[in-house]
Amino acid sequence: MSAPSYKIIDHTYDTIVVGAGGSGLRATMGAAEAGLRTACITKVFPTRSHTVAAQGGIAASLKNNTPDHWTWHMYDTVKGSDWLGDQDAIEYMVREAPQAVYELEHAGVPFSRNPDGTIYQRPFGGHMQNMGEGPPVQRTCAAADRTGHAMLHALYQQSLKYAADFFIEYFAIDLIMEGGKCVGVIALCMDDGTIHRFRSQAVVLATGGYGRCYYTATSAHTCTGDGGGMVLRAGLPLQDMEFVQFHPTGIYGAGVLITEGARGEGGYLTNSEGERFMERYAPSAKDLASRDVVSRSMALEIREGRGVGPHKDHIYLHLDHIDPKVLGERLPGITESGKIFAGVDLTRQPLPVVPTVHYNMGGIPCDYNGRVMTIGPDGDPETVVPGLFAVGEAACVSVHGANRLGSNSLIDLVVFGRATGLYLKENLTPNGTQPELPKDSADLALTRLDHFRNANGSSTTAEIRTEMQRTMSLHAAVFRTDELMVEGKEKLAATYQKMNDIKVTDRGLIWNSDLVETMELDNLIAQATVTLHGAQNRQESRGAHAHEDFPNRNDAEWMKHTATWFNGWGGKGGDVKIGYRPVHEFTLTDDVEYIKPKARVY
Ligand code: FUM
Repeated sequence: MSAPSYKIIDHTYDTIVVGAGGSGLRATMGAAEAGLRTACITKVFPTRSHTVAAQGGIAASLKNNTPDHWTWHMYDTVKGSDWLGDQDAIEYMVREAPQAVYELEHAGVPFSRNPDGTIYQRPFGGHMQNMGEGPPVQRTCAAADRTGHAMLHALYQQSLKYAADFFIEYFAIDLIMEGGKCVGVIALCMDDGTIHRFRSQAVVLATGGYGRCYYTATSAHTCTGDGGGMVLRAGLPLQDMEFVQFHPTGIYGAGVLITEGARGEGGYLTNSEGERFMERYAPSAKDLASRDVVSRSMALEIREGRGVGPHKDHIYLHLDHIDPKVLGERLPGITESGKIFAGVDLTRQPLPVVPTVHYNMGGIPCDYNGRVMTIGPDGDPETVVPGLFAVGEAACVSVHGANRLGSNSLIDLVVFGRATGLYLKENLTPNGTQPELPKDSADLALTRLDHFRNANGSSTTAEIRTEMQRTMSLHAAVFRTDELMVEGKEKLAATYQKMNDIKVTDRGLIWNSDLVETMELDNLIAQATVTLHGAQNRQESRGAHAHEDFPNRNDAEWMKHTATWFNGWGGKGGDVKIGYRPVHEFTLTDDVEYIKPKARVY
């Protein structure tokens, strides 16, 4: 089949960053500051990226409000990950965290302040003093409850200062791979329908998570895992996709995030009997246990008939005992969200909440320099994919393992965005010469675009997407059973078949949201499929993966990362290959020892 003919506009850069959330902007800023010709391609205006929705804050052991130490932060992160995190990468993140936060402060992030002028830090789930032995630590640096919003503005301004080029409202279609190396990206300018080929020494994928493969999520509708989709199409694996985080407090019915900072500031959960049930499940940390523990406890309360509301299907979050002045200063955003999305005045009434899909621990496997790794299918050693990098929620470094602690996402974004910028500075030549791209370098991407643009089947994109979302919400939820997941895999494969018979009505190229949503769906459904396959394959419970047939963690057999390759392209569906990558059971330096696995109680 000959490739479709589209006029192509060519560009050459040293570094291309795809995505302009916190990690993409931090990598863009670092590369541009290093004098590399840097471009950032983004499908939404940078300050509208999903990082804008991050509320409660960013974790770093600054010790402004309580005693703290980076080794305590490391311990909490390893324990939070249920020992699936790579401890070399975790050590790197927590040690760099304070410096990364001070850089943000100097870049202009308007952090909330203590009376002495230092950055205000609040408690967050799973962050404790003294290697888990002490009371909650105040480690989460906050700009009221709009921390991500504040960060995005500062990082975008800094990137412009260093003269990075922005290609805004450009949709990245696919990577250009040449002999196993990434040499560029093909993108569609949504505004005028032009096709762009970016040649580059390095491509950094900062495309965020794929939360929208579920029906209800705190993730923006733009969170369609475009980088993960591109990686799977390049024949590379994704890692640990079975670990999907449910945030305990999404507003019931709307899915809108209510920050964990609400519980950090003293909020608590109750069931239909008015009981503060977290005292039973996590006697020490209570409502500030880690997210997987709180979400499971809420799901159990609902399952056992102690949910609230006419259908007994949600839980109450109380903030009505907190001084309204404190709510106004520290939690103004959620006070407003409570009014708009639940019709609740938080100063007087409890808020209806329910565990809601929030974050993907899994993603594109990479090391702490952002270098993408591929894994031999039979446990062969991991190797670097030249030219390709990943940061942020799109990446799996892996610092979060099986469960991420709240406020460790924002720190992950800036630490690894910065680390990737530093790596590029040391390893790329500014204005370096690059070989010509092969003549057919755009063919795969444009054939795919053209196929969907002219698709004239009988199922609309919205119908297929809804079917996928309902399957994921039912079959890969907080609790999973083998039977449920086997059935989910079958349903999803049948849904995938409908991609063969998809219908796109708009044949144009200018602002064709029908076409872009279809390519997004193609990215989502491949990742939904590897998520369900990875989940059904992992016969244990660990972190966010609560397998009711295998309720215990099994370190002897399952302390390993899952790698999944998707081979179901072209409407075949359900064809997934599974391999494994060892967990890094070592630290980066001799300053700290490997933290050995033990039972995880809060
Ligand atoms: O609850 C929150 O504010 C979310 C933070 C996070 O996911 O890190």
